[in-house]
Amino acid sequence: MAFFLGVDVGTSNVKALVVDGRGRAVARASEPLALRTPHPGWAEQDPNAWWKAAARAIQRAVGRGRAARKIDAVGLSGQMHSSVFLDAKNKVIRPALLWCDGRTSAECRQITERVGEENLRDWVSNPALEGFTLPKVLWLRNHEPEAFRRLAKVLLPKDYIRWQLTGGLATDFSDAAGTLMLDVAHRRWSREILDALDLPQDLVPEVGESTAVLGTISAAAARATGLAAGTPVVGGGADNACGAVGVGAVAPGAVVASWGTSGTVVCPTDAPKVDPQMRAHTFCHAAPDTWYVMGVMLTAGGAFAWYRQQLAPELARKKDADILLNKEAAKVPIGAQGLTFLPYLQGERTPHRDAEARAAFVGLSLAHTRAHLTRAVLEGICFGLRDSLEIIASLGMDVRDVMITGGGASAPFVRQLQADVYGKPVVPVDQAEGPALGAALLAAVGVGGFRDLTAAAEIVKRRPPVAPRPAAHAAYEEPYRRFRALYPALRAAAR
Ligand code: XUL
Repeated sequence: MAFFLGVDVGTSNVKALVVDGRGRAVARASEPLALRTPHPGWAEQDPNAWWKAAARAIQRAVGRGRAARKIDAVGLSGQMHSSVFLDAKNKVIRPALLWCDGRTSAECRQITERVGEENLRDWVSNPALEGFTLPKVLWLRNHEPEAFRRLAKVLLPKDYIRWQLTGGLATDFSDAAGTLMLDVAHRRWSREILDALDLPQDLVPEVGESTAVLGTISAAAARATGLAAGTPVVGGGADNACGAVGVGAVAPGAVVASWGTSGTVVCPTDAPKVDPQMRAHTFCHAAPDTWYVMGVMLTAGGAFAWYRQQLAPELARKKDADILLNKEAAKVPIGAQGLTFLPYLQGERTPHRDAEARAAFVGLSLAHTRAHLTRAVLEGICFGLRDSLEIIASLGMDVRDVMITGGGASAPFVRQLQADVYGKPVVPVDQAEGPALGAALLAAVGVGGFRDLTAAAEIVKRRPPVAPRPAAHAAYEEPYRRFRALYPALRAAAR
């Protein structure tokens, strides 16, 4: 029997998943990660902490010594955009600035002024947003010139793990797409943008297909992980691309809403379709000649985790904390009796493109209890995802139903909440492994375990849809309208 390993470098943990030749999970392990927020709106992690966590998770999932399972290929997935700055000896220069770090507004303005929105659309299919990699490189140049002088390569999180595993510097198109340095439409690095910003062309690594073998496990990595030296490692993909593969959404026609730390709505397309207002992103998918449009909330699961930690600390350590909180929330009526939560704890990308947006509870009264707060948080997350769905629908894409994955897919209360808020059937799948499964399937395709990605994705089966309840959907219109009105009002007051 063949076995494939998928490794996903998330924001709250690193996960390693072993699947068999039919894509069935046989072992998994995850190791937690800490997040540093040295200032409000900033977010950093140490790439070497990712590597330590990855090595431990792989060891635990694969087993050690004689008991170790023989892995046929490895696939990598990871948080997008976060910048790993390496010197000429491939040593990490400083902690990585993460996808949800908002410190680069001045650099985004600098890029937009130098390049122009028009050229950004033509060259890289996306606007300059704080979370993307390129503004982080300029931030290093502007704020830490000493560190910038040492900079030789910028890598993405999963590709730092690739470097540790194989000794090679490489990435794949789906992850490269999130750097603002890839010509997304033509699937090649954008010489134009690097030139326009006076950056060297060799700042970025080699880029390949997600299923291409881009290296093999080194002897040192074999000792650190329990994998056999020489095991092939494929390109892998961005966590959102791998997450879509992990629910079987490879081809156009599917729409996937996912709650990780971020919340995303991914819609695969057969051409690089760009939102004229660039509120949603356009990136390469993990399959050849396929792209996706994506709306991104910076804190979805992240907002709920913050809420649980800060406002329900006595539950935070319990295994069934979320079930208990959902139970409380279910007792409160739709709209949480006038209470609204704006989930912008770390700024927001879609639809607001505003790194300085901040979260709020609005409408609190003596009548409100924690149950109302919980319900308002869950509703606020669903409203934020609905904003992305509305943009996707406005681009002419047919949203028949919404496949759901991540935190929001497991609890019956949250499934129904999503169906009612979106007014669309939501479709869970029979796999809950997320991006790590997508990465393992890419590895399997890379060494011939499946004919292609479409065949691999067929292992995932849709579960019966959860239908929206018409009366509940209608009842959400007023709270959703209130939610939409609050951001511009509070933003104006904060200026
Ligand atoms: C996507 C994004 C997040 C991260 C989370 O643009 O920034 O979804 O990929 O890991």
